[in-house]
Formats: sequence, structure tokens, C-alpha cells
Amino acid sequence: MPLLSVDSLQVRYGAVEAVRGIGFEIHPGEIVAFLGANGAGKSSTLNALAGLVPVASGRVVFDGTDITHHAPERLAPMGMTLTPEGRRIFGTLTVEENLRMGAYGVSDRAEMDAAWARVYELFPILFERRSQYAGTLSGGQQQMLAVGRSLMSNPRLLLLDEPSLGLAPKIVEQIFELIGVLRDQGVTLVVVEQNVAMALEIADRGYVMSGGRIVSSGTAGDLSQADRLQAAYLGAE
Ligand SMILES: Nc1ncnc2c1ncn2[C@@H]1O[C@H](COP(=O)(O)OP(=O)(O)O)[C@@H](O)[C@H]1O
Ligand SMILES: [Mg+2]
Repeated sequence: MPLLSVDSLQVRYGAVEAVRGIGFEIHPGEIVAFLGANGAGKSSTLNALAGLVPVASGRVVFDGTDITHHAPERLAPMGMTLTPEGRRIFGTLTVEENLRMGAYGVSDRAEMDAAWARVYELFPILFERRSQYAGTLSGGQQQMLAVGRSLMSNPRLLLLDEPSLGLAPKIVEQIFELIGVLRDQGVTLVVVEQNVAMALEIADRGYVMSGGRIVSSGTAGDLSQADRLQAAYLGAE
């Protein structure tokens, strides 16, 4: 059974139809890349799945439950979280306070301790800086904080929107390594990326979006051998 199943998903902002009825499935244990040029509808898709923008029509089923109109704070306890594009951390709160905000639905003390331990083990720098304002962190550290916050509710499905955007090459490599580590820990991942080559290196499969539609899909191998036409869709050189 797919972990996530999306049927005829449509997202609108007033007259702008950002996502025009797309369908796809994500299976447990997969890393699936969403690729496509700016404005293709990738963030709108992820934000709609995560309940941050309304679904105009269509259906989203997570682990057998219809979540089409669920709010984000209902989804986290069910096991699905989004690390949004642009990180959206709170600069005037400490690292620890930012992390605590991600612990939706974690009421049990032992579960909470396990969440802290996991995040601080993945990101020792966040432990070192736990009492600092998040605004004082570097861009890479802020991205780690954003991912760490998403992990505090122990998701089975993590949606990552442009995790490497604006980061130095060395940090980008760390982010991609992290994606592999999370998969090894049993997390299923959907990753929106501008870094097509690196995304296809780590992903099992991918979807290419253009103009609010899925215009191509396949294994990472198939997509990376794609011709010039697809290269255009991907916004690659
Ligand atoms: N809040 C918004 N209000 C109006 N239009 C938006 C908004 N967010 C995105 N759009 C538009 O929706 C389309 C898809 O955008 P987006 O989902 O952000 O694409 P991507 O993440 O692939 O760059 C674009 O035409 C964009 O201008
Ligand atoms: Mg986007």
C-alpha cells in the first residue's frame, strides 16, 4: 500500500491555477524527487499536502486516511511533516525553542527525550548552540534546524522543499548525506530540488513538473538520461 496517494490535486491562488490536477504515489522507504523550473508548482504541491495551502480539488490519502483538508498540526502527529522552502525558523527564539515547536503531538516524556536525542545526534552543532537565538546561526545551520524541527514529531514521511537552496557546496553535500541517513532510519522522503544532478543521485524516482502539471516521471536513472527537452523542463543548462 502506498504511504501517500495523491489524486487530481488542484491548487489555486485566486485566478492562478498553480497545480492543475496531478496524481502520484509515494511508497514506504522511497526517496522521491520533485523537479522542475521556478513556478512549476512544486512548493504549491508540497504545501497543499502539508495543509499549508488549501486543496482546491482532488484527494490526498496518507497511510489509508483521507487528509485532503487536514491542518499541519493534525498531520504531524499522524507522521507527516514539511520542511518548507526558505526554512521559516524563528530567529528571535532559541534553537531549542524552535525545535520544541516541532514536537506536535509528542506528549510522552520518553518520546520527547528520544526526539531530542535523535535530533542532537544528527546535528551536534544544534546541541552546542541550543541556547542561542536561531537568527545567529549560519544558513546551513538554519537549514539543519528547520529539518530538525520537522523531525521532532518523528515523521514517517518528510517533505523537504529546496533543502539545499542558497547553501555552500560543502553544506549541500551534508544535506544530501542527511537525506540518505534519514532514509536508512526508515523515513520516506519527498524532496523538491533545484540541484537536479544531486537529487537524482540520491532519489529512487522522480517527477518533473511544469506549468502545474507532471510532465515526466520515472526512475532516477531514466530521468538522468533524459534528453534536451527534459533538460529544458528541468531548467538545467
Ligand atoms: N501565495 C501565492 N499567491 C499567488 N500566486 C502564487 C503564490 N504562491 C505561488 N504562486 C504562483 O503559483 C505558481 C507555482 O508556484 P510554486 O508552487 O511556488 O512553484 P515552484 O515551487 O515550482 O517554484 C507560480 O506561478 C507562482 O507565481
Ligand atoms: Mg518552490
